[in-house]
Amino acid sequence: MSNLLVLHGPNLNLLGTREPELYGTTTLEDIDRSLAARAVARGATVTSFQSNWEGALIDRIHAARQDGTQALIINPGGLTHTSISLRDALAAAALPFIEVHLSNVFSREPFRHHSYLSPIALGVISGLGARGYELALDYLLDRI
Ligand code: DQA
Repeated sequence: MSNLLVLHGPNLNLLGTREPELYGTTTLEDIDRSLAARAVARGATVTSFQSNWEGALIDRIHAARQDGTQALIINPGGLTHTSISLRDALAAAALPFIEVHLSNVFSREPFRHHSYLSPIALGVISGLGARGYELALDYLLDRI
């Protein structure tokens, strides 16, 4: 059975009410529920984890090295643009991952154009809203 981990970084717990013109009105719960259903339909499982703390996300990635996780989807939020430590954790885990952003970070402020994670990601989806997570899930399930 395929086991995927979905990680959501800082402030993504506020989805639905946070800057809806940028991030839409879908809540994080909606996203996680739809991913879980999509995975079950394909005989796979998805575990979701959100934290506003960089260290908690890093600890969860470390755990993924030993808990049967085969691939990850991560929206690192603002840590995308700042966190060498998150990148190092993903490199250490050596699991394939797709970086997802709800908004198109390249059409936004210049400081959002750089990602510490993208160079080691399998792929990056940016700007497709909640649909980006579903596409990432389908891709990883086709691949693993
Ligand atoms: C985001 C884009 C980031 O720049 C921002 O800090 C977020 C959300 C997105 O999903 O579009 O928190 O990752």
